[in-house]
Amino acid sequence: MENTRVLLKQRPAGIPKADDFAWVTEPLPEPGREQILIRNIYCSLDPAQRGWMDDAESYFPPIELGESIRATTVGQVAASNHPDYQPGDYVVALTGVEHYAVADAVGFTSKVDPSFVRSLTNYLSILGAVGLTAYFGLLEVGKPKAGETVLVSGAAGAVGSLVGQIAKLQGCRAVGIAGGPEKCKRLTDVYGFDTAVDYRGKDVPTLAADIKAACPDGVDVYFDTVGGDVLAAALANINDNARLPLCGMISQYNATEPVPGPTNVWQLIAKTARMEGFLIRDFLDKFPEGIGQMAQWIAEDKLVFQEHVDEGIENFLTSFNRLFSGDHNGKLILQIAPESV
Ligand SMILES: NC(=O)c1ccc[n+]([C@@H]2O[C@H](COP(=O)([O-])OP(=O)(O)OC[C@H]3O[C@@H](n4cnc5c(N)ncnc54)[C@H](OP(=O)(O)O)[C@@H]3O)[C@@H](O)[C@H]2O)c1
Repeated sequence: MENTRVLLKQRPAGIPKADDFAWVTEPLPEPGREQILIRNIYCSLDPAQRGWMDDAESYFPPIELGESIRATTVGQVAASNHPDYQPGDYVVALTGVEHYAVADAVGFTSKVDPSFVRSLTNYLSILGAVGLTAYFGLLEVGKPKAGETVLVSGAAGAVGSLVGQIAKLQGCRAVGIAGGPEKCKRLTDVYGFDTAVDYRGKDVPTLAADIKAACPDGVDVYFDTVGGDVLAAALANINDNARLPLCGMISQYNATEPVPGPTNVWQLIAKTARMEGFLIRDFLDKFPEGIGQMAQWIAEDKLVFQEHVDEGIENFLTSFNRLFSGDHNGKLILQIAPESV
């Protein structure tokens, strides 16, 4: 049996291109002591992977040249050297964009129950890092109160669409920022945001004015997934004691030059506001609470979530770059093998 993997060949400059990767086929790896061999089925495609391709200081070491593209995956145990895992078990693990992966049985690997979800992919979306990022980032960092206005960027995306819905469940007014009229319509019609703002093609003053019109009482919580000019325009609209959870800065992940800081930072002082970065791993010990609450909301049909599943390991790059063109609806996932063999 053979294993196809997508390796990082060179570090991308700007938007990743085919020359940055190599698709290689090799013999199957052997699991070592306390390790398992996973047949990967679904790979999560996340903006964070773009950062891991750079040789830059971050919360994870960079992917080394010649290594598989690191990815959270859902797969099935093919062979096990650990008593807690049997062949056939389904697992979520931090492995790579590769058909077969060896993983330590402890750490980032956990068994999942297919009967608990509508689709195994849910473990990469609503019940995975995406759902928990929205849940803890908004509730623990943003601390919204009923009646407040919550503004969200990347609002039609995997995390952002859930942030808006969780804000509504807290009794807040939810305003989303997204690219293009179609996505803005989806924000109100599908995800239940109160209103939406299209950021495309606007300078900071114009976008700030549009946000002001959409948030006549100002912004109490700004959940930022984008950074740059969108952050600057949001800062121009914050209320006294606003909270700004910094979740991501996707507008800067492909930058080839140092990125200037946003304007309007003074507003944080003028409004005694708090801007705070967070990582989902900060909330690891509270995951059971978050998963329980998200599962309950799903069962009560209180959350709409969408998954965009592309197929084929050969399509990794085309699929991954959708994150930067915005050409996807909801959580982006690459299926690289059938669910059962
Ligand atoms: N802190 C954490 O622990 C954590 C965990 C998970 C994710 N994140 C971050 O959360 C953010 C969203 O991740 P996701 O998985 O939910 O992705 P996503 O929002 O589903 O997809 C990315 C979206 O970003 C928008 N975008 C791309 N380039 C942009 C640009 N230059 N300016 C403005 N918007 C742009 C696009 O939407 P439009 O079509 O609307 O432009 C695109 O659909 C990312 O920044 C990610 O790094 C952080």
